[in-house]
Amino acid sequence: MTVSYSVRERLFACVGSPEAPGRSRDRQEGEAIVFATCPPVRSGGIFQRTMIAMTFAFGLTGGGPAAAQDVEIDRELFSTGMALYIDNCAVCHGENGDGKGSLASGFSPRPRDLTVGVFKFRSTEVGEFATKEDLFATIRNGIKGSYGQTMPQFRHLTDDDLTALAEVIRVASDAPGFGTAIVPPPRPVNADVARGEVLFQEFNCVGCHGEKGDGRGVLAAGLVDSDGLSIMPADLRVGQFKGGNEPEHIWMRLYTGIDGTPMPNFGRNTPGEDLWALVEYVLTFSNSGS
Ligand code: HEC
Ligand code: HEC
Repeated sequence: MTVSYSVRERLFACVGSPEAPGRSRDRQEGEAIVFATCPPVRSGGIFQRTMIAMTFAFGLTGGGPAAAQDVEIDRELFSTGMALYIDNCAVCHGENGDGKGSLASGFSPRPRDLTVGVFKFRSTEVGEFATKEDLFATIRNGIKGSYGQTMPQFRHLTDDDLTALAEVIRVASDAPGFGTAIVPPPRPVNADVARGEVLFQEFNCVGCHGEKGDGRGVLAAGLVDSDGLSIMPADLRVGQFKGGNEPEHIWMRLYTGIDGTPMPNFGRNTPGEDLWALVEYVLTFSNSGS
């Protein structure tokens, strides 16, 4: 994604530069960031900015040039969110959101670069920004997969806190708004597990996740994520899924894919009931125990 970052960088610079009064060591925990060096405010406390040139390239799929557009920022909300961000998130995701916080190198996968707008756990169409609720779920629940916990959970944050943090992430990504959630079709009562097993071969899930669902398919060892780091396909026997353990969550992962990783999306060309058959088959691995 090539974007003119100047305004966003200035926003982060408000808290990130040594002279800025909002810098974390100069304020009490939880206190809002003071925007001393920030861009001008319009009446009403909201300012608009125009992106000079913006080209999208979402995840590993290509993209085309997009028209210049305005991104509205609610400064009050952003300021509250930025204070929470510095206190809770910057140690991993970096003061300027680039994913290079002081603890970052200890994690695999690495803490996300929150400026690129790529999300693993979306419930939106390919190329669309995550919903606010997607971000709420990630922050509140943390990220725990079959190989253990990567991001911690933040249960103590209120809905207002999460709304403010979501605003920071939206602004950091230069996204004009949040996406709209896809609603999965209802889970069929009589699941077609046999069809799921066939599709698991046909879609070559097996190539990555393996015949036994242990994450050791023939392709597994060579996979890398968008940070260029090695990434293992989930071990489906564990029954612990990063994007949520409900069947609807797994359906959504298959529909949207997992952006920034080699896990493709299957939503566009696959009927919803086939995705359900795959979900049922995936669940047989966790029921089989590890
Ligand atoms: C201890 C380190 C750590 C802290 C603190 C942390 N994160 Fe993360 N975060 C991670 C890691 C690691 C990942 C990538 C996990 C993965 O891909 O398995 C991640 C991923 C994310 C994602 C991407 C989710 C997606 O759909 O791809 C978001 C958004 C996020 N973090 C927001 C936050 C926010 C907001 C905070 C503060 C409230 C925070 N994180 C605090 C480590 C951290
Ligand atoms: C090219 C390799 C590849 C293929 C093909 C693939 N996956 Fe994955 N899959 C991955 C990787 C890598 C991850 C782990 C991503 C991560 O940890 O961030 C993953 C994760 C998952 C998860 C865990 C989701 C979560 O919330 O943690 C499920 C379930 C899954 N895949 C099912 C499938 C199914 C079903 C298919 C076939 C329809 C499939 N995968 C095809 C590579 C693949």
